[in-house]
Amino acid sequence: MSEKPISSYTFGDSTIAAERLRILAEIFEPSTREFLETLMDRRPTRIADLGCGPGYTTRLLAQIFPQAQLVGIDSSRGFIELADKTAPPCVRFVEGDVASPLSSGPYDLIYARYLLPHLSHYHSAVLQWGNCLSVGGAIANEENDWIETNQPAFRTYFEMVAAMLADRGQRLDIGAELEAINDWQPLLKFSSQLVPIRVPEPNAARMFVPNLDVFRQQPYIQKNHEEAEIQRLKADVLAVIERGDPSRMVTFWRRRIVWLRPAS
Ligand SMILES: C[S@@+](CC[C@H](N)C(=O)[O-])C[C@H]1O[C@@H](n2cnc3c(N)ncnc32)[C@H](O)[C@@H]1O
Repeated sequence: MSEKPISSYTFGDSTIAAERLRILAEIFEPSTREFLETLMDRRPTRIADLGCGPGYTTRLLAQIFPQAQLVGIDSSRGFIELADKTAPPCVRFVEGDVASPLSSGPYDLIYARYLLPHLSHYHSAVLQWGNCLSVGGAIANEENDWIETNQPAFRTYFEMVAAMLADRGQRLDIGAELEAINDWQPLLKFSSQLVPIRVPEPNAARMFVPNLDVFRQQPYIQKNHEEAEIQRLKADVLAVIERGDPSRMVTFWRRRIVWLRPAS
């Protein structure tokens, strides 16, 4: 992988971006594991992990559903190559755009975490994923409703990320928007749960710092922010890593939704 992002994903696919996803995967693994374990009774044998990045969630899925064949799909060739290096035998990683019809299937379980904010037309994408489900199959999705923090540097960071995504017609926190969709024929909303995930501020800061290094390459940031401003924000976020109070929490209000493809 190069330091230069090759996909259109806002946060890039450089080595720095992959490192950010490693930290993110480490922080959110307990919560994602808990969510996926609620799906164990469904005994899926064919699973797709969409927007799998370097494959952290795909490997977690493989642990939880050892009987399944899995495919991880991501638009970044760099992430797919990285994921492939440690792929368990039951997992295949494939480069592809999940906003286009998926080439394989049907799947008993389609999982996606932190993907929908990056798709400009997520409605049509989710509906076409529904067409790739086996009858009775499920789409399980995790996004944020919102992120609660009193840390001024984090607030500035989130405002910047939200504005950058909005510039691309995308939204950062879309959990509540997804929750409001009741009629997504032929998909049936099976469950929707809002869970608080509390992360100590210094740990959250470890996730945010790598993004600040990626941001400065984005045309939106270059047009709207001075380099000095990004440097100042990075110094403030680094200070939270180095001297922050681990008893102060950032709360990620995580929306977990499961849609089913019912028998027609
Ligand atoms: C925030 S990351 C989440 C990665 C992984 N799901 C996780 O939670 O660790 C979003 C991922 O979606 C991928 N992505 C964005 N748009 C995509 C598209 N249209 N098709 C496939 N992958 C896409 C990016 O390359 C990136 O790996």
